[in-house]
Order: sequence, then structure tokens, then C-alpha cells
Amino acid sequence: MRFTVRAPASSANLGPGFDALGLALDLWNEVEVDPEGEPGAILVQGRDAALLDGRENLALRAMRILAADHGRALPPFALTLRNQVPVARGLGSSAAALVAGLLAADRLLGLALADGEIYAAAWRMEGHGDNVGAALYGGAVLAVPNAGGVVRLSPGDDLGLVAVVFIPEVTGATWAARAALPGTVPHPDAAFNVATAAGLSVGLLTRDHALIGAGMRDRLHEPYRARLFPHLTPLMDAARDAGAVGACLSGAGPSVLALATPECAAAVSAAFEAEARRVGVIGEAVTLALVPQGAAVIEAAVRLSVGGG
Ligand code: HSE
Repeated sequence: MRFTVRAPASSANLGPGFDALGLALDLWNEVEVDPEGEPGAILVQGRDAALLDGRENLALRAMRILAADHGRALPPFALTLRNQVPVARGLGSSAAALVAGLLAADRLLGLALADGEIYAAAWRMEGHGDNVGAALYGGAVLAVPNAGGVVRLSPGDDLGLVAVVFIPEVTGATWAARAALPGTVPHPDAAFNVATAAGLSVGLLTRDHALIGAGMRDRLHEPYRARLFPHLTPLMDAARDAGAVGACLSGAGPSVLALATPECAAAVSAAFEAEARRVGVIGEAVTLALVPQGAAVIEAAVRLSVGGG
């Protein structure tokens, strides 16, 4: 009866696709549901477990909301969360938790909802469809309001690119990064982003690195968020100078993401770390594959192993 759901990290926006573009990354959170375990028990293990202490558990919240939406009550169960995705760094940890919770509740209640229904519920809860789309479907996705479902741009692993991510030690808050945005933007900036977001989407669809690079330029949120994250512009510049195809703020930050060919990844990673030292931001650069798999119920035999803590 015990089962595990896993969901990947994701990077939202990719520069110009604010609240619209998402990309799944090879870093996973697991939610194990044990109906025979101590009812109500929640154990959080793995990366940043201490940061989640005392916070509302988003997977459990998603489970409760889905059950209520379907007029059902959840049976008793114990939850174990094994996390690899850094918390509050712009890498979609809350989207992974939400999506995993929705799939867990779907399985527990035997609802057998279609992915589109899970996606709609996740979008409603998160408020935008970028991270949750990537977490649920994998690959690179586009969340278009009223499209009736996710738009899958690429499975990710066919792009010939990896993600080099600089993850600062310091956390960020999505609400603060959204509060930093102006109520209105100049029309030329909006027009610029229409072109770059469309170009980036086509670049991801056609695996055109030059178009992806030209498209990963933003004027709607990064210039404003750079005031919160002074490391953003120097690190993006350093990554591009080191040969990255493109670079951007990952989600609402503070992580910085570069897309690079595997041959360039080590140079981009070294450039991130050198520039971070120069500007005085503590953190680490990691290189992650772009994954075609999204969240799923998995069998115990292929479960991930992450450290406790
Ligand atoms: N698109 C969102 C933002 C992602 O940039 O605020 C974080 O939830």
C-alpha cells in the first residue's frame, strides 16, 4: 500500500518567459505515503530540511486541497519527504512539492485524474503554470493561459545542453521578488520581451542554440530583481563570456541558470564560482541534466537515496 511520488526541480522564466516558461532539471524530491504508518506523522529528510521546519507542508496542503475539491476525505497516513531540491533558491521546490502532493492524493484516493486536471489544479494553487508545468511534464514547457493544457516545447534531453546553476547559500522569497516588480513597464520593454520569449520558444522547439541565446534576454523582471540580487548581472555576464548559450535568473531567484553545451559546462561553472567570489556571494555551481521525465509514482526499487538531516 505504501508508495512514493517523485517530482523534479525546475527553472521558471528562462529570462523572458515570465510566469510562462519552465524547464525540468535532474534533481528530485520524493514524497512517500504510508497508509500503515503513524497517522499524521511527517518526516522531512535531505537538503534544507531545517529550512522547512515550522513551515506549512506544501505536499500535504496540495493533498488536502485535491481531496476537498473532489468532496473526499484523506485516509490516515504517514508522510516521508526526501528532498534534493534546494528550498527558496528559485529551483521550483514548492512546485515539486505541490505536484507530488497532487499525484499522491490522486493515487491515495483512486481518483485517476488526467494529467491535464492535475496541471490545472497545480496552476490554480501556484498562481502560474511555469514551474508546475515543468515539474509535472518534464522537459521545457510553455504555460499559455486558456490553451487548455501545457505546451511541450522540448523533452530537454534532445537540446544538446546542460544547466549550469549557481545556487547561493542565501535564500530568496518569491513574494519579495514579485513585490520588487513595477506595476507597469515601458512599452518598448514589453515589445522586446514578446520577441525574445517567442524566439526562445522557437529556439527550444527547433534546438537552435543561437536563437535560444538571443531569446534568453529579459526586460520585464530581471532588471528589477537585479536590485535584490546584485550578483545576477555579473554572473550572467561571466557565464556568457565563458561560452554559455544563455543565462538568466532562475525563477524568482536567487539562483542563476546558464544553458551550455556539455563541452562548455566546466568553464561556465568555473566562471560562476570565480565571479561569485569576486562579488562576494557564497554558493556553489552545479551542473544538471535537462530531464524529459516529470513527476510520477515510482516503485520502491528505483527510489532515490538522499541523506537524512
Ligand atoms: N514565474 C515565477 C516568478 C516563478 O518569477 O515569480 C517563481 O514562482
